[in-house]
Amino acid sequence: MSETLVTGASGTLGGALLPRLVDAGVVVRAASRSPPDGDAEAGAQTRTEETEGRVEWVEMDLVDGTGIESAVADVDTVVHAASAPTGDTEAVDVRGTERLLDAAASAGVEHVVYVSIVGIDEIQYSYYQHKLTAERAVESSDVPATIVRATQFHSFVDEILATVSRLPVWPLPTRFRVQPVDHREVADALVEYATGEPRGRVPPVGGPEVRSLGELATAYREARGLRRPIVRLPIPGSTASAFREGRATCPDRAVGMTTWEEWLAAEYGGDSEPTAAPPSGAPS
Ligand SMILES: NC(=O)c1ccc[n+]([C@@H]2O[C@H](COP(=O)([O-])OP(=O)(O)OC[C@H]3O[C@@H](n4cnc5c(N)ncnc54)[C@H](OP(=O)(O)O)[C@@H]3O)[C@@H](O)[C@H]2O)c1
Repeated sequence: MSETLVTGASGTLGGALLPRLVDAGVVVRAASRSPPDGDAEAGAQTRTEETEGRVEWVEMDLVDGTGIESAVADVDTVVHAASAPTGDTEAVDVRGTERLLDAAASAGVEHVVYVSIVGIDEIQYSYYQHKLTAERAVESSDVPATIVRATQFHSFVDEILATVSRLPVWPLPTRFRVQPVDHREVADALVEYATGEPRGRVPPVGGPEVRSLGELATAYREARGLRRPIVRLPIPGSTASAFREGRATCPDRAVGMTTWEEWLAAEYGGDSEPTAAPPSGAPS
């Protein structure tokens, strides 16, 4: 029976991938630097409950190389979802990916599915540049691959707004245009690819709507019953203007169905309605 390794299995996307792959009949090996056990912290435990006993966890560190060879041994497919957006992205996303690919090639892995981000070739941001270098390593590897780009996850936008919401006013680049998607819908698409033949670069997976960050923040504030003012933070430079121009979006690939308001309602309760245009007086 074929076996699939999921890197980044303890992360947001990885946590959604595991039960979906298992339900698709795949034997799953899940990799993390700290595999959950009886002493795992509560969050990790909750994320892994759904697949308890149905997934083999292994310890693997892409930076120091711990466990990579044994993680890829005897697997046919690797879904590579490990990443370190706020850490040493070059060490994890570039050199770690290269290490993983070398080990996968030596072990005779037949398919690597790489998870990437929409717009990384048009936005000059160091994390994105490292993801682009990783994509190129995947493409030039001997292991046949599928590269799937996705837009920002709803949960990621939620994390940013949760951080900002602690401040007395919310300074935000309200004109950034994003197309957030439910990460579970990205996981659904990835399962399709992971259980099929390698396909090279495939069309990206985007959320249902392109929205301004101002609109998203306004809906978030309503869903959480907060009142603090949202203030437009002007950010100079080419990275910010690329986000304002919508370079991180793929409107012709609006694959995800769950809108931001629907996601907020499920997360925070209530029946938040879409706010396609910010109410008068709200920032844009
Ligand atoms: N978040 C988004 O909005 C978004 C949008 C589009 C695409 N993506 C892409 O989707 C993928 C998954 O994103 P995510 O948001 O689910 O990530 P995440 O929640 O931040 O999880 C990252 C994962 O990477 C693992 N990791 C970090 N450093 C590692 C290392 N040195 N060795 C091995 N594993 C390591 C972590 O596992 P441990 O800490 O347990 O080791 C964790 O499971 C990434 O490739 C990301 O670029 C994300």
